[in-house]
Amino acid sequence: MKTDEIISIFDEQAPNYDSRWKRMAPVSDALYFFVKTIFARLPEKARILCVGAGTGKEIVFLAKYFPDWRFTVVEPSQGMIDVCRKTMENKGLTQRCMFHEGFLDTLPKDREHDAATCFFVSQFILEQDERSDFFKQIAIRLEPKGLLVSADLVADIFSKDYPDLLELWLKVMSDAEVDEPALHKMKETYENDVAVLPSQKVKSIIALGGFDTPVRFYQAGLIQAFFAQRSKEID
Ligand SMILES: C[S@@+](CC[C@H](N)C(=O)[O-])C[C@H]1O[C@@H](n2cnc3c(N)ncnc32)[C@H](O)[C@@H]1O
Repeated sequence: MKTDEIISIFDEQAPNYDSRWKRMAPVSDALYFFVKTIFARLPEKARILCVGAGTGKEIVFLAKYFPDWRFTVVEPSQGMIDVCRKTMENKGLTQRCMFHEGFLDTLPKDREHDAATCFFVSQFILEQDERSDFFKQIAIRLEPKGLLVSADLVADIFSKDYPDLLELWLKVMSDAEVDEPALHKMKETYENDVAVLPSQKVKSIIALGGFDTPVRFYQAGLIQAFFAQRSKEID
């Protein structure tokens, strides 16, 4: 997806983003529950790079459990980052956040982050080399042993079980039966506008971006999440 398309889609979604996704909270809460343990080995005063932080849900969660952590909020949509700023203000978290409205390429390449979160972001990069390069942009902003946690829509869209999984996923998201045209439309969206790729492919894209042995630690419906440590070799 082109960068200006992404910005306009999320600018439009921003005012209702949190209410729209509220019913999927059990899925994101379970994801965060795992991330809490994966990140437990980070320093007491860790700095976390939150790429595509959106309205800041992951930050609110992590900030509660790790009171001395600070967050770099990277978000290109003004609508989304405005909601995020407001949420942080309401939760008393503003002082712990550095807000960067823009993409990663305009964030200084300081290796000051102990870890990064990247939830439902890389799936919008359709070109695989570009997607690996995106992960490299994260890797070069991490400490040598920095950790990445990344989640996306992940599936083998050519597998036999994909139509049933997709149907279930749509029912879960909408809390309703899904008719054939709606199913077909979503199938096309996931084929053309979002890079829904098999697990192994996503792992190799992350690894090529400068991370060792990505581990898939979570799956719920079409969502899968991976953690990985920054490779030694990257410059
Ligand atoms: C689906 S939302 C997810 C937001 C948040 N991470 C969450 O889990 O609720 C994706 C967010 O990533 C942002 N985004 C999309 N492409 C991006 C990119 N290449 N770099 C940084 N952010 C991006 C969008 O503007 C949007 O706010």
